[in-house]
Amino acid sequence: MKSQEVRKKFLAFFESKQHTIVPSAPMVLKNDPTLMFTNSGMAPFKEYFLGNATPKNSRISDTQKCLRVSGKHNDLEEVGYDTYHHTMFEMLGNWSFGDYFKKEAISWAWELLTKVYGIDKDILYVTVFEGDKEDGTKMDMEAYDLWKTHIAEDRILKGNKKDNFWEMGEQGPCGPCSEIHVDIRSANEKAKVDGKSLVNMDHPQVVEIWNLVFMQYNRKANGSLEELPAKHIDTGMGFERLCMVLQDVQSNYDTDVFTPLIREIETITNVAYGKDEKVDIAIRVIADHVRAVAFAIADGQLPSNNGAGYVIRRILRRAIRYGFTFLNKKEPFIYKLAETLSHQMGDAFPEIRKQDSLVNNVIKEEEASFLRTLDQGLLLLDKVIETTKGKTISGSKAFELYDTYGFPLDLTQLIAREKGFSINEDEFASEMKKQKDRSRSASASETGDWVTVLEDEIEEFVGYDTLKVDVKLTRYRKVTTKKDGDQYQLVFNMTPFYPEGGGQVGDKGYLETSNGDVIHILDTKKENNVIIHFAKNLPKNLSETYKAVVNDEFRNLSASNHTATHLLHQALRTILGTHVEQKGSLVSPDYLRFDFSHFSKVEKEQLNEIEEFVNARIRENIPLTERRNIPMQQAIDEGAIALFGEKYGDSVRAIKFGQSMELCGGTHVQQTGDIWYFKIKSEGAVASGIRRIEAISNVAVGDYFETIEKDFSEVKQLLKNPKDVAKSVSSLQDENTSLKKQIEQLLKDKAKNLKGDLKSQLQEINGVNFLATKIDLDPNGIKNLMFELGGEVENLFLLFATAPSKEKAMLTCYISKDLANEKGYDAGKVVRELGKYIHGGGGGQNFFATAGGKNPGGIPKVLDKAKEYLS
Ligand code: ALA
Repeated sequence: MKSQEVRKKFLAFFESKQHTIVPSAPMVLKNDPTLMFTNSGMAPFKEYFLGNATPKNSRISDTQKCLRVSGKHNDLEEVGYDTYHHTMFEMLGNWSFGDYFKKEAISWAWELLTKVYGIDKDILYVTVFEGDKEDGTKMDMEAYDLWKTHIAEDRILKGNKKDNFWEMGEQGPCGPCSEIHVDIRSANEKAKVDGKSLVNMDHPQVVEIWNLVFMQYNRKANGSLEELPAKHIDTGMGFERLCMVLQDVQSNYDTDVFTPLIREIETITNVAYGKDEKVDIAIRVIADHVRAVAFAIADGQLPSNNGAGYVIRRILRRAIRYGFTFLNKKEPFIYKLAETLSHQMGDAFPEIRKQDSLVNNVIKEEEASFLRTLDQGLLLLDKVIETTKGKTISGSKAFELYDTYGFPLDLTQLIAREKGFSINEDEFASEMKKQKDRSRSASASETGDWVTVLEDEIEEFVGYDTLKVDVKLTRYRKVTTKKDGDQYQLVFNMTPFYPEGGGQVGDKGYLETSNGDVIHILDTKKENNVIIHFAKNLPKNLSETYKAVVNDEFRNLSASNHTATHLLHQALRTILGTHVEQKGSLVSPDYLRFDFSHFSKVEKEQLNEIEEFVNARIRENIPLTERRNIPMQQAIDEGAIALFGEKYGDSVRAIKFGQSMELCGGTHVQQTGDIWYFKIKSEGAVASGIRRIEAISNVAVGDYFETIEKDFSEVKQLLKNPKDVAKSVSSLQDENTSLKKQIEQLLKDKAKNLKGDLKSQLQEINGVNFLATKIDLDPNGIKNLMFELGGEVENLFLLFATAPSKEKAMLTCYISKDLANEKGYDAGKVVRELGKYIHGGGGGQNFFATAGGKNPGGIPKVLDKAKEYLS
């Protein structure tokens, strides 16, 4: 069964069980402070499990792009070495939110696997939770009894908390789970070892394929469990593993999910898969990682130096490194796989097809730049090896290579070994630990449990319509971080504060209590659909009504920049073309930053045109048309622009200013005239094919023009208020050029005279033509003069001293090469010794050397001593 078919059958099955099929959410999460990447099928639904929102449908099913490379679930270092772990993978899932529970989940899973996919039940094992003393949980007999009706009891295995209790994080919803495992070993091997003993033992052919989680608890900050009011089902099946079973192969990499990529790698690198384990690992690493990186880029996450971007960069670098070391590829090549990937996955995930050229460009550029870094690192490693005494390279040097050049220990070891060196691994490990401790203590934080103040209140956002409203506290928690100390996170029954999102920063403002106390709201963010307000203190009385007030200047300026961002987007698509797509955005009160796909520099004239386009829309004073809660499809049909990598609900908000229409949750001005004026401050590259514009609007433009005006009037004054400033500057420049020429000529003449003069001062001492004197010439002039004299006079020994300032002295010594080589004179030694008298030092070669010092007062002494040296 082809992988496309496997996917279709899964979704059709759950559709027939009244599930709503939804598209995969983005793999890269924006606006979730607790999670960087979707790490399981349930992550997009966390808000439902937490009870922060209610889904429209209580049964949902999908195939979700997942990435497990950071945080609680991290498989990165295993990927490539085995045949069934991945960074990016698809998780097929079905969910019940307070609807069906264990009975249906178990019997449908069984029906799908054995009837629809036709998997032989004799290769299946299932596990149930055995209970845990510490948590006070009992064995999941309910699941056991249900399984008994489908499968022989000797195929139902008990599992501990590690394998059979699933938690999405340190805190939050969790519950016992039942896993379904397959044993796809040959009959021969099965006869030798019982499959039962291999379940959960990391055997490549006895693997878990599906996890059915029965969400019935909430894990609190103190580690204890409480029952959830409503019980849920969360299941996740590894798509690639399922394909392995259904395609009757022994490795995920032998399924048609990976083989097209592997064939392409073989063609490009001219190696064969399946001949040499090291090469195979490298090929698997690359085939796996390119998927993670390509999908992340298609979701709008470019490789960068921090956060999610850095994780993506590290994954790609891991792939490049394996290619470099084991496939001997010193040129970019991974980018070439983007096309194969888009062919293969484009039907199920159209975002990868629509953006294949961007994916291609970004990966290519990353590869080229990391290969350059690798080269530099190799040079450094050569130097380290050169200066290493003995045969063991210091662990801290190896760590420096790791930290600065991305050389992991195994790569450094490999190269060192080729040259007969080893690495002090203990020292490396200790440096690594030190760094981890540093970053852990910098980011250490403690999050308390939510404390409920008011039950059953909806927590509503009213900030589109008002900046001031009476609110009540519904819950709060304390968070302690090293950086900010103690802080409180407050949630209200309603709030005018806009939470950070869609590029726009979170609102600031204050709460006023009944006795006039003011609590400052320092920031506002959204977490799992809850709007959280950050404050340094808690109000004294938790249950009264407060006045919540948003800082209106902060908000209005953010709104001005947000609307300006939409108009800029429209301008770019109008002037540069509809290939322009938003790739990142920051909207703050001070300025806006907009990243977009475009293949070349935006020329000055185009920037002027873009600026003028936006300002024309501002002058038109177009009123805002805001549509809340319209169906997504309707908005798209009406021409609204949706962004790749953004998670939209069924109903959306559309923001329209004339011809500009975007899906957007941000805040905007009421009419474009409120923006006042738009000014682009810079344009540049962020990555290959991605440009960035930074711009300002509103009062920031006033400040900007004021500064320019001030600078300009200063210049004008300095120029004595000419009528035409540009002309006046240009004539100054002309004058300057002609003066420079004259000076050059004068200096040449002076040097000529000087040369004659100096020649006449030469003194013959012991067959050497000697002169030590103070002269007034720049270092280059002195050097030229000395070499010219050297060309004219044999057996020459010159020592010239200059004092460019009161605190600076310089000595230059020239000795004819023959003289230096045959008689053993050494200019370097001369300046080093004489340098003492000017309180400095220097050096050079035996025929030419210089020294600098701080004491021009020592020059007469230098000149005397020079003569002494010779005689
Ligand atoms: N959320 C469960 C898992 O990821 C299904 O295994």
